[in-house]
Amino acid sequence: MTQPISRFWQRSLASGFLAALMTSLCLGSGCNTLEPAPPSSAEELQTQPLSPLPLRALAQQRRLQIGTAVQVKPLQQEAPYRQILAREFNQITTENAMKFRVIHPKPDRYDFTDADQIVRFAQTHRMAVHGHAMVWYRTQPDWLTQGEWTRQTLMPVLKDHIRTVVRQYRGRVQSWDVVNEAIDDQGNLRDNLWLRVIGPEYIAIAFQEAHAADPKARLFYNDYGGEEVGKKSDAIYDLVKTLRDQGVPIHGVGLQMHKTIKRPPKFDRIHKNLQRLQALGLDVRITEMDVQIHGGQGNLTQKLHAQAQVYQQILKLCLNAPNCKALTVWGLSDQHSWIPEFFKRPDAPLLFDSAYQPKPAYNALKALLQ
Ligand code: G3I
Repeated sequence: MTQPISRFWQRSLASGFLAALMTSLCLGSGCNTLEPAPPSSAEELQTQPLSPLPLRALAQQRRLQIGTAVQVKPLQQEAPYRQILAREFNQITTENAMKFRVIHPKPDRYDFTDADQIVRFAQTHRMAVHGHAMVWYRTQPDWLTQGEWTRQTLMPVLKDHIRTVVRQYRGRVQSWDVVNEAIDDQGNLRDNLWLRVIGPEYIAIAFQEAHAADPKARLFYNDYGGEEVGKKSDAIYDLVKTLRDQGVPIHGVGLQMHKTIKRPPKFDRIHKNLQRLQALGLDVRITEMDVQIHGGQGNLTQKLHAQAQVYQQILKLCLNAPNCKALTVWGLSDQHSWIPEFFKRPDAPLLFDSAYQPKPAYNALKALLQ
């Protein structure tokens, strides 16, 4: 990075010896169960000496995947993006490169260019890859959405698509969002092409095809707004329980975790949800975390600290849940977030700012992990 060394890094380096000692003590088997006292206030977050180790080294000791969604453009064009990605994260999710429209642009043509680049980068840097998103109602090609389908003609499309993509990355993509956002905000099955033409069984079929194509891959149902116990998460729970009861190969639930400081999550309700999914024998991943600061109270510093608290509390819940395997943030720096474009207003929802400087949220995750 070309930026001058920040106070954050000076502080990190000064505390290096102590942190390295703590880290070496933590290499044993008890590390996963350590329960550090998290800083409780914004001031403590600021003053706690931080480990010089990157996030991924600290997460590795907890057997946690700490990941980010990756876009191919900055991966190709921005050196700091590549440096921070490789240094800080041990897991990546393909943000757009494996979506239907990108990877299967014509009925008889697959395009693996973008996805291959991301997967190669991950392999080079020993990062796990989470594939996203096999069956989704958005980012579909026109040939699919505008086609005239019957059950007999659409079924082979669904099966071929899943088989081809999962086989292509067999052994290189460890886990998949097989079905994404299939439940609407009222808790009903979302009206989409697959439901209309094939029927509700498209969900089970998708998981079965993915499993047949790569029996070792971990397969997830992924959704937003179902983090806390409530109407939507109840519907997700019922869906995945039914799939489990039917013997469908599903291994976990992705909780997207798109949050705001204006309406912070209710952590006890997320905890309850994690527990009931664990009781079903399902893994959980925090798959798309970001925390908007728009509409929050106070000045920018106060908002960023409120944001840091949300990140830290979610990490704490995940560390304390034996079935929570990963925390993935939805983009590397604020510059790459989908939020400003989607909501048509500026925001700063991620761990690094637009100049690639670590934010209080990054420090807060470290403070908890170290
Ligand atoms: O890359 C093209 C660019 O070449 C073109 O000039 C530009 C013009 O609009 O579009 C660019 O593609 C955009 C792409 O993001 C890359 O930035 C698409 O229009 C845009 O629709 C796409 O948005 C993505 C969105 O999903 C829809 O697929 C966001 O990046 C991505 O963050 C967002 O992610 C979703 C998850 O997949 C599912 N959960 C919700 C989450 C947020 O919406």
